[in-house]
Amino acid sequence: MALEKQSPCKVNFLLNLLGKRPDGFHELETLIHPVPVCDRLTFDRKGTNIELTCSDRHLPTDSRNLVYRAAELFLTTAEIKDGVRIHLEKNVPTAAGLGGGSGDAAVTLLGLNELFSEPLPKTKLFELAASLGSDIPFFLQNGPAIGTGRGEQIKALEQFTCLTGKSIILVHPGFGISTPWAYKQMSNFPEAQNGKPGRADKLAALLSKDDLAGAAKEFYNSLEAPALKKYPLLVLFQEFFREQGAMTTLMSGSGSATFAIMESQSKAVNVLEAFKIKFGDKMWLAAVPLSV
Ligand code: C5P
Repeated sequence: MALEKQSPCKVNFLLNLLGKRPDGFHELETLIHPVPVCDRLTFDRKGTNIELTCSDRHLPTDSRNLVYRAAELFLTTAEIKDGVRIHLEKNVPTAAGLGGGSGDAAVTLLGLNELFSEPLPKTKLFELAASLGSDIPFFLQNGPAIGTGRGEQIKALEQFTCLTGKSIILVHPGFGISTPWAYKQMSNFPEAQNGKPGRADKLAALLSKDDLAGAAKEFYNSLEAPALKKYPLLVLFQEFFREQGAMTTLMSGSGSATFAIMESQSKAVNVLEAFKIKFGDKMWLAAVPLSV
């Protein structure tokens, strides 16, 4: 029997770089929130190797794909000789800062562990996830969380009740931003590269005590510095969403997706229509309730 799983994406309410580390990564603090725009994965025990297919023919289906690498790592670690067939139905754009590929990799670890009757404990899955990429451990759990270290050390948070009923708009402009590129540019922005710690906890505390107006001012992303300079269109998106009454608007992760939090789903849908009139209707757009 095939096992089917949804893989939601994420946005970073805050991504504060705290300096470059000797290993080349950046120390950071981030507040990550899941968003119910999902890829879908199907897992099947079949054959003797890993066979990956994908609805998006532009994506590689070999070891360049994080899903393939996650499957390979899982099977080796769990010492499983059987093969698997995986199908990936892509809805989340790639190189968007929405964690699409990272979520797919995490769900692959979870899906295969379930398919083979849980040979690995959750702690091991977290270890494997962190070795595959900094953003991947977040997707092994399903609520908001604070990430520290290079982003892989995850502290799960309670759902923020003040966000119930709110909606989020996502816009992908049609070009991606490479994560290594974004981080590499940060040496040109020393202030943004060397932020002061404590901002993720502060934002989480404001949201926890339902101070949405206070929280809205604390959303921040160090990686916007190079991205907004290179792509002024992203600044225009944010100006537009602010004019339209967004509670807050920011680039997610290393970009290029922009998000805006709106008071309600009907408001989000209306703003999205206005967005299409202003910027055209060829971009990838979504408006969904901000809860999973
Ligand atoms: O961990 P991940 O594979 O997502 O990282 C991709 C690249 O992004 C890294 O090779 C590194 O250049 C950069 N990065 C960083 N600091 C982090 C996370 C990623 O410099 N905390």
